Amino acid sequence: MTDILGELEARRDVARLGGGERRIEAQHKRGKLTARERVALLLDDGSFEEFDMFVEHRCTDFGMQDQKIPGDGVVTGWGTINGRVVYLFAKDFTVFGGSLSETHAQKITKVQDMALKNRAPVIGVFDAGGARIQEGVAALGGYGEVFQRNVLASGVIPQISVIMGPCAGGDVYSPAMTDFIFMVRDTSYMFVTGPDVVKTVTNETVTAEQLGGASVHATKSSIADGAYDNDVEALLQMRRLVDFLPSSNTADVPQLPSFDDDGRVEASLDTLVPTNPNQPYDMKELIRKVADEGDFFEIQEGFAKNIIVGFGRVSGSTVGFIANQPMALAGVLDSDASRKAARFVRFCDCFGIPLVTFVDVPGFLPGTAQEYGGLIKHGAKLLFAYAEATVPKVTVITRKAYGGAYDVMSSKHLRGDMNYAWPSAEIAVMGAKGAVEIIHRQSLDNPEEIEKRTKEYEDRFCSPFVAAERGYIDEVIMPHSTRKRIVRALFMLRNKELQNPWKKHDNIPL
Ligand code: HXC
Repeated sequence: MTDILGELEARRDVARLGGGERRIEAQHKRGKLTARERVALLLDDGSFEEFDMFVEHRCTDFGMQDQKIPGDGVVTGWGTINGRVVYLFAKDFTVFGGSLSETHAQKITKVQDMALKNRAPVIGVFDAGGARIQEGVAALGGYGEVFQRNVLASGVIPQISVIMGPCAGGDVYSPAMTDFIFMVRDTSYMFVTGPDVVKTVTNETVTAEQLGGASVHATKSSIADGAYDNDVEALLQMRRLVDFLPSSNTADVPQLPSFDDDGRVEASLDTLVPTNPNQPYDMKELIRKVADEGDFFEIQEGFAKNIIVGFGRVSGSTVGFIANQPMALAGVLDSDASRKAARFVRFCDCFGIPLVTFVDVPGFLPGTAQEYGGLIKHGAKLLFAYAEATVPKVTVITRKAYGGAYDVMSSKHLRGDMNYAWPSAEIAVMGAKGAVEIIHRQSLDNPEEIEKRTKEYEDRFCSPFVAAERGYIDEVIMPHSTRKRIVRALFMLRNKELQNPWKKHDNIPL
């Protein structure tokens, strides 16, 4: 018996060594952790249970029958993050460069199936060279099986991808269909075709970093939802993110003990909005002052900075914050901001996370660049996302809510549940100057007249009261009591029930 036990331990030791000491050392030299080190950091101590440690590939081409490594390049299993179950797979770059074989794919699909059946998040850690070249079409089939499951799980369980090394070919499309992608700066990159192919086809010379590093995907392409300096920071932040997420679309949002006062009054908010309507201020200050303990997990911080999205908690429960940011492009809605916020709103709606929206928006960004780039459709995505959302929706207009952007930003007309405005709110079809230039076009050569009319327009329309008179605003509130009002509104909306008409699925303007 002792021999058998000893043999099991010996086989486990071999599997744990992956591609061997030399390759592990090479991995460390590049500033990367191994798959097993990553799993250990991501999960609660001692909570990891591994599946399929002894699985080997079945390929017999190219001499592969003599090159078998138990585990076949991916570590899979389940564990807990702060006590909550998650399933995960982590590509092991030390084994055939983490490339995907038929059996490697089967290990991943097993975890995906278990996560979907048992309704818990699935986290994929990527560090891989794409399809196992020696297996050819069997690897393509394997990817297809993974992709199909990504789609079926979408909107049912949260799916998170963490890119911690190369990620090319088949390995980019699975992350692309998950809810969030995070990268590590300088050691990870993602592209469909690498620099060599790019050079051959388009004659462009680019490095891997220029083509698909975190610096590209977290700021330009918006493929990545965030980037971190190293593996350790990335994994610790994933633990933080999971704490915000419900386990599935039928589970409640996590309720954590809050040490913050629900009735906390923030006098400084009374002076957050500057007297000059064209002067910017930092909307993140409002988010932090409303969220429990100021804890805010921002999504896509480096992309479309004119809108802020991310998770926080109110009274211990997760909420999604969406806010125009006057510090960037005056908070205007453009194509990028609309897409970014639309995707976030839809994620929250899938998983029952209430939406808290802070509005200070001068409208949609004019210009040929935007129009040629499809602003109408991109703007419509955000409009569509808010309009279809059935989760509790609380909106606070702090300053400008002009034109179509007023409607879009979780307005009463899109079934906003509680729509508040600060006394500084200006809810109008457009700014006073533009409005007067149109209405009083004949007086344009009389500056005094224009000034008088502008003042008149501002006094009458650039306030929260015209909208409040119509019931579009439920109440004009004091800025200092914003947290208290949001806490109470969300408490009141806890049992909200609202269903859209039956449909196979909607046809959001993609
Ligand atoms: C088999 C692979 C492999 C692969 C890497 N290796 N990629 N083995 N299939 N796809 C092996 C290498 O042979 C090497 O083995 C080890 O992994 C480490 O690779 P290196 O090249 O030494 O590492 P590095 O210099 O860091 O380069 C990493 C890399 C490069 C950029 C990922 O290996 C690379 O370009 N690989 C090929 C990428 C690729 O073209 N993949 C196919 C994509 S097509 P040893 O034994 O020396 O340690 C695809 C189609 C799917 O994915 C589409 C579905 C929709």
